[in-house]
Amino acid sequence: MSYTKNILLTGGAGFIGSHVVRRFLTRYPDYRIVNLDNLTYAGNLENLRDVEGLPNYVFQRGDILDAALLDDVFQSFQIDGVIHLAAESHVDRSIESPLDFIETNIVGTVTLLNAAKKAWKDALEGKRFYHISTDEVYGSLGETGFFTEETPYDPRSPYSASKASSDHLVRAYFHTYHLPVVVSNCSNNYGPYQFPEKLIPLMIHNIRQEKPLPVYGDGKYTRDWLWVEDHAAAIDLIFHQGKTGETYNIGGNNEWKNIDLVERLCDILDDLLHRPKGASRQLITFVKDRPGHDRRYAIDASKLKQELGWEPSVYAEEGLRLTAQWYLDNQEWLDHVTSGAYQQYYERQYDHGG
Ligand code: NAD
Ligand code: TYD
Repeated sequence: MSYTKNILLTGGAGFIGSHVVRRFLTRYPDYRIVNLDNLTYAGNLENLRDVEGLPNYVFQRGDILDAALLDDVFQSFQIDGVIHLAAESHVDRSIESPLDFIETNIVGTVTLLNAAKKAWKDALEGKRFYHISTDEVYGSLGETGFFTEETPYDPRSPYSASKASSDHLVRAYFHTYHLPVVVSNCSNNYGPYQFPEKLIPLMIHNIRQEKPLPVYGDGKYTRDWLWVEDHAAAIDLIFHQGKTGETYNIGGNNEWKNIDLVERLCDILDDLLHRPKGASRQLITFVKDRPGHDRRYAIDASKLKQELGWEPSVYAEEGLRLTAQWYLDNQEWLDHVTSGAYQQYYERQYDHGG
């Protein structure tokens, strides 16, 4: 079968990537989606169980740092679009081991840019390199104001500094080599399949198990939460209709102070688990702050709304309930993630001695 597009999607076994893979596979059966992922601790093929049998899906285990493999993938699958999500993504881990972030997020992105540049050297027409980034590159806000596409970069954690660097390099390949790139910077995502090291799934997991709920510092740090499928919808729009060389901010218009969010989750789970009102709030424990903790992130997504008509579709209360319910309904997924059993899935699924 010949496909109308052949898309190399990196990091598709991760949280956001798996939602984008699912969306593209099911909405665009005439596209082939090649999911390249090296399955770090954050890569979980169980996230894609429901779609892995589709004929337009290819899984390629591999590292974005492997230039020879990338050349081979571009050639073998005639790749004409890239959606680049592969990254080390957790701020606390970046504080522990910054070099892993430099390698994957910076060197890995340049390796991928080089592969695209090489493969597309004779014909840039119809090609697109879409780099997925974060609002954390803009730094930290006070009580008021929003990040726009014009906000100067001011990253303050090794994670955000590595993402900022990769964003600059992607834009440099546009200006220097005319690589047809587009970039988006998104706020914090939440929803099904998020690894339980991030705030919302970690809290849901601990509430369920009646374990302490570790809130950093005074708990008044603020994040703008976006339902992950709304991010996937924005990625779909920008991939197809975003202007080459442009940047789009994506945000949930849904700000929460961490403590308010955790209390809300406690109340939702008390309700869903038939616990007495207020029971789970007793588990909240203030702990030592994260070093260099950014106070507030908030996105102005008006460019995306005005130019491409995108808006979030799932709001605060509904999204938190849906997420809590999903984690309760998918205890097996969570057990596999927390026990490490999910890492054997690849061997069972893809390595039958072949
Ligand atoms: P994630 O950590 O859940 O998934 C990352 C995926 O990348 C994993 O499947 C992992 O195995 C893969 N990967 C890591 N290193 C790799 C390498 N060297 N080669 C190949 N694959 C590799 O991350 P996520 O939360 O889904 O984030 C995806 C992207 O979106 C990242 O670029 C992140 O910076 C960006 N982003 C995330 C958020 C958020 O709230 N999670 C918000 C805005 C932007
Ligand atoms: P996180 O989900 O790690 O996302 P990011 O740091 O990329 O915004 O954290 C979201 C917020 O929650 C952040 O202010 C740190 C805070 N936090 C806690 O208070 N306790 C926790 O256990 C975690 C993981 C995060």
